[in-house]
Amino acid sequence: MADAKPFQWEVTPEPITKEVFRIEGGRPLNGTVPISGSKNAALKLFAAATLTGERCRFTNVPEIEDVRVMTETLQDLGVVVDHPAPNVYEVASGDVEWLFVPLEAAAKMRASFMLLGPLLARFGRVIISNPGGDRIGRRPVDLHVDAMRTLGAEISYRNGYYFATAPGRLRGTEIRFPFVSVMGTENAILAATLADGHTVIRPAAQEPEVDDLIAFIQKMGAEVQRTYPDTIEINGKRRLRGADHRVIPDRIETGTFIVAAAVTGGKLRLEGAPCDHLGRFLDVVASTGLSVSCGKDSIDVDATDVGPGAFRPTDVTTAPYPGLATDLQPPTCVLLTQANGTSRVHEAIFEDRLEWLGELRRMGAGITLLDDHHATITGPARLRGAEVEIGDLRAGASLILAALAAEGVTTIHGAHHVHRGYENIERKFLDLGARIERLAEGNDSTNS
Ligand code: EPZ
Repeated sequence: MADAKPFQWEVTPEPITKEVFRIEGGRPLNGTVPISGSKNAALKLFAAATLTGERCRFTNVPEIEDVRVMTETLQDLGVVVDHPAPNVYEVASGDVEWLFVPLEAAAKMRASFMLLGPLLARFGRVIISNPGGDRIGRRPVDLHVDAMRTLGAEISYRNGYYFATAPGRLRGTEIRFPFVSVMGTENAILAATLADGHTVIRPAAQEPEVDDLIAFIQKMGAEVQRTYPDTIEINGKRRLRGADHRVIPDRIETGTFIVAAAVTGGKLRLEGAPCDHLGRFLDVVASTGLSVSCGKDSIDVDATDVGPGAFRPTDVTTAPYPGLATDLQPPTCVLLTQANGTSRVHEAIFEDRLEWLGELRRMGAGITLLDDHHATITGPARLRGAEVEIGDLRAGASLILAALAAEGVTTIHGAHHVHRGYENIERKFLDLGARIERLAEGNDSTNS
């Protein structure tokens, strides 16, 4: 390890530029929108690139804040991350000199914890901060830590940090998760690729981002297969090589734009977005009466016939893939505000992920929060402009959707959350005919 670097236990958060979105709603969105690469795929691919000293090249990487944070985190470790063109990144982990992932990175982004598995497997040790992430409830990492211990790692926890070592190589084994965890599965896969022997992971997450990670590490030479829908098997290798990979389209951004067309009574073509990865969300959309047609590499949504206010109510429950994604719960709720009747919403994955509905209610939505996991939405609501606050990125994007559908002007505070996960969101909406501006906090004039 380089000894010149200060060993930083504590961190003073960087000042955040406070920005607001100011949106004048009530205009149908029309046109074609390009769908960016998946955030939750790209971040894991960057982590996987540390499994080898050779260069890995990624295309279709979204230009978002979380990718910037991951880039900086890797660079602080001594990894070379080049950005030769927009949406193209090259990661070369030949000289990792600092096996320490600080609180600074972890506080900004939970996905920093994805470095545990690959660094431990390749270098035999890492000190990594307990991660933060979104304000969507308690989000422990016990499953990740237990999986590493099952693979033979020794891990202790002190002062907010996990100290992990793997005397000799990690050892292939059976990892049984008590329930499905996306990043838990991914961390276990990455660690097992360099372990000695055979690993079975069950129940393994089935999210498309997990399969994208598998596709990439197979190109790196890893021997990994999904042998049953919920089972992944790995034969560990001594070393992996560099590889090139195109990031899959972002299914959460796709769902967000589908709802944008629906609630504004518009007509959109989503480019570079196959329906394949949308799982149960497509069934939910169909049962509201919204027409979505799936092309080979695009999706057409036409809400000009149904029109907001005329959708059918639908009960929804979030679940691991292929169930309704918890990340699509917020846009789905905005859609349900425009259904004629009462829909029940069950958020089964995270606690506190319904809190944001309080903000949607301020815009005129008929919402009753029953408990941390259940709510009802009664529509159709005549949404109206209001001053609201974003708590996490998916809720933030969904407040934008509500504002686009609302009468009058909405000011949304906390715009920076949205830029963690959506590339150029206001540009994309502007190009579809929306009236949306991003302003420095304090320069907004709210007429609502
Ligand atoms: C991933 O988070 C995504 N993040 C989340 O997207 C997404 O909401 C979530 O999967 C569910 O689909 C990334 O991919 C970077 P989990 P992850 O482990 O892997 C509990 C977004 O907006 N749990 O599948 O952290 C946990 O509290 C984000 O892009 C433990 O108890 O989610 C939750 O209740 C937000 N112990 C459940 O499991 C653990 O060690 C599922 O979480 C791990 C998880």
